[in-house]
Amino acid sequence: MKALILAGGAGTRLRPITHTRAKQLVPVANVPILFYSIQSMVAAGITEIGVIVGDTRDEVMAALGDGSAFGAAITYIPQDEPLGLAHCVLIAREFLGDDDFVMYLGDNLLEQDLASFTAAFAAARASVSPPDAQILLKQVPDPHRFGIAVLDDAGDVVHLVEKPADPPSDLALVGVYLFTATIHEAVAAIEPSPRGELEITDAIQWLVDQGRRVRCELLTGWWIDTGKLTPLLEANRLLLERIETRIDGDVDDTSVIDGRVHVAAGARIVNSTIRGPVSIGADAVIEDSFIGPFSAVGARCRVSHSEIEHSVLMEDAAVIDIPRLEDSLIGSHAEVTRTRRKPRSLRLMIGDHCQVDVE
Ligand code: TTP
Repeated sequence: MKALILAGGAGTRLRPITHTRAKQLVPVANVPILFYSIQSMVAAGITEIGVIVGDTRDEVMAALGDGSAFGAAITYIPQDEPLGLAHCVLIAREFLGDDDFVMYLGDNLLEQDLASFTAAFAAARASVSPPDAQILLKQVPDPHRFGIAVLDDAGDVVHLVEKPADPPSDLALVGVYLFTATIHEAVAAIEPSPRGELEITDAIQWLVDQGRRVRCELLTGWWIDTGKLTPLLEANRLLLERIETRIDGDVDDTSVIDGRVHVAAGARIVNSTIRGPVSIGADAVIEDSFIGPFSAVGARCRVSHSEIEHSVLMEDAAVIDIPRLEDSLIGSHAEVTRTRRKPRSLRLMIGDHCQVDVE
């Protein structure tokens, strides 16, 4: 089995961060989102990985390299324009050959590992009615915001509908799909949707309409589409829940480390309190500050005379003299400072290289 990871796209919902950076490389718990999907592929025994890349291809390729650091072999497939998820399958035809494959949206994060999902597909493929696709579904409270599946009595997919006003079920499609080579016929047969994209839901519906079996698995753990600020901070929170205490950097005698905290090598904590779960990246400097739960401070960041909680600071960012910063995403090399001393709380999404001076 091969894997196709989608790391192109426009990322409009995470602007301004995505003006300068691939959204799949935004760090959660100090690790780029995309790394988690590559790691879960390798853990499931899938090492031949195709990665769809768009405008941010240089950055994605620099981060993943040839895949050997992950124990994988990566083939990059350039997509000139984000013409839809099914378009990604279309242009990956040569890489995929006639193999079964798992398609994974590079900005999605799953709690559950992939192995159970791929094993279920393999078992079903060996059955008397082998499926040509398997989708992953999650019960959601707000189905009108998602692609929704309708199942028959046997639990197979009969109908897919995008963001329905009147949802026929509460089973949303999660960004992980398994296909046989039959999907190549489907993506070649469908037409672009009204928004001009080749939709994977249309390709799967085409399979159903051709009498092909599309089975599903229900996801029990959490699933996050990190493409917007609030879910991204939520993903950061959920992944920080898993970290273990490890202090490789320097913590001075006047500082307090409380709860599960990772301080990477070269980081310095001076006269500060760090209340976990928190991850402090390599060579970061935290002085006279409080870093509260669910914060990830990137490599080489500087936090001075400030209080931060439930936020992500990308590498090389600085937060100076800010009484309280919460629920924020700060781009790399961005600087948040304050010249006048009036206490206030800030909620920010700051792009790379920005400067914010709070008066
Ligand atoms: P989306 O989040 O659906 O789309 P987007 O990246 O264009 O984001 P936005 O809506 O904020 O503008 O994409 C899901 C994933 O698939 C994401 O990792 C980007 C990737 N993708 C491609 O690689 N090619 C495409 O043509 C599309 C539509 C998405």
